[in-house]
Amino acid sequence: MKNILITGGAGFIGSHVVRRFLKNYPDYHIFNLDKLTYAGNLANLRDVENLSNYTFVKGDITDADFIQRLFKKHQFEGVVHLAAESHVDRSIANPMEFITTNVVGTVVLLNASRECWNGNYEGKRFYHVSTDEVYGSLGDTGYFTEETRYDPHSPYSASKASSDHMVRAYHDTYGLPIVISNCSNNYGSHHFPEKLIPLAINNIQNNKPIPVYGKGENIRDWLFVEDHAVAIDVIYHFGKNGDTYNVGGHNEWKNIDLIHLLCDIMDRKLKRNPGASRELITYVKDRAGHDLRYAIDSSKLQRELGWKPSLQFEEGLEKTVDWYLANQAWMDEITTGDYQNYYEKQYQLR
Ligand code: NAD
Ligand code: TYD
Repeated sequence: MKNILITGGAGFIGSHVVRRFLKNYPDYHIFNLDKLTYAGNLANLRDVENLSNYTFVKGDITDADFIQRLFKKHQFEGVVHLAAESHVDRSIANPMEFITTNVVGTVVLLNASRECWNGNYEGKRFYHVSTDEVYGSLGDTGYFTEETRYDPHSPYSASKASSDHMVRAYHDTYGLPIVISNCSNNYGSHHFPEKLIPLAINNIQNNKPIPVYGKGENIRDWLFVEDHAVAIDVIYHFGKNGDTYNVGGHNEWKNIDLIHLLCDIMDRKLKRNPGASRELITYVKDRAGHDLRYAIDSSKLQRELGWKPSLQFEEGLEKTVDWYLANQAWMDEITTGDYQNYYEKQYQLR
């Protein structure tokens, strides 16, 4: 068995990656290391938690002693690093947590990998999962390529950019075998309802206002989360040492158009009158430093490693809505207590 460490596996994307690796690689023992912050939820992995090649470890990537001991004990051959503070609005309210987890935590993992592998890099890999937000914002045209200059604007994207640089620095300086991917916005099941799509689904269902920042004209490039998990699998196994791969859906949507589509799907599913959910749309104060447009050129990944998205957005969004409607208990459990406090502070809406 090969011991593989996945960090942040109890979160949204991480849970899909853990599930995929467990199912596809029975000769891997997957260790899921997660602090279980507000965003981490073991219910995301109920269907696989009893597999014999799976171990959950509760712990903090910023705790260097603990991380060092963990590496010493399990001699990981690979690291797939997803643990992070991931929400832009929270980074605006509290940047320091993002520096601690995303930058310091990444460096703690790099140090532990370096020490554990001790120059014997054969068969080893440190895979850092990052975001397209490090590239900043596009105007009306053009795409982010792997050569686009980093230009982050939010504390979140600046912390991710900084961690990307540290990962590359460990490759260039110490020869650590690394690979990085920068992906566009994901959507799908198990997405925490602070992000646009699950928040809107939850609010529509509960007949609450759908908060749209500014004029709703910002554009995001949406990718089905299971397609991202496939990309991570392919890049982990076949990506070139030291390289970066952009991952995206070629699927740009203006926020307001996306919300309209979502409202129409929800009206159908909930048997509401056509147009009923659109009445919940409420324009609110814009996000500070709000990036206008993200759009990924993923042709390198398609050309070199043969990956491409599997789903059309309309189909993926409908599948996503079906999952939330069928898993109301999952949503109810995470939208009590702390979530209510966050929501009220963030939106001041009823
Ligand atoms: P998420 O917020 O849903 O999950 C993050 C997970 O990390 C949680 O389970 C949390 O408990 C854990 N975590 C946080 N701090 C930790 C710490 N100090 N130690 C150990 N675990 C900790 O995030 P996500 O949306 O699944 O994103 C996963 C990764 O993918 C992040 O690195 C993010 O930057 C990147 N990414 C996300 C998107 C997206 O659209 N969500 C797009 C591109 C890249
Ligand atoms: P989000 O899901 O937070 O992802 P990111 O900021 O990482 O792209 O937001 C997606 C888009 O939706 C972004 O342009 C901000 C906007 N948005 C709203 O209009 N209202 C909301 O309540 C949220 C959370 C986001």
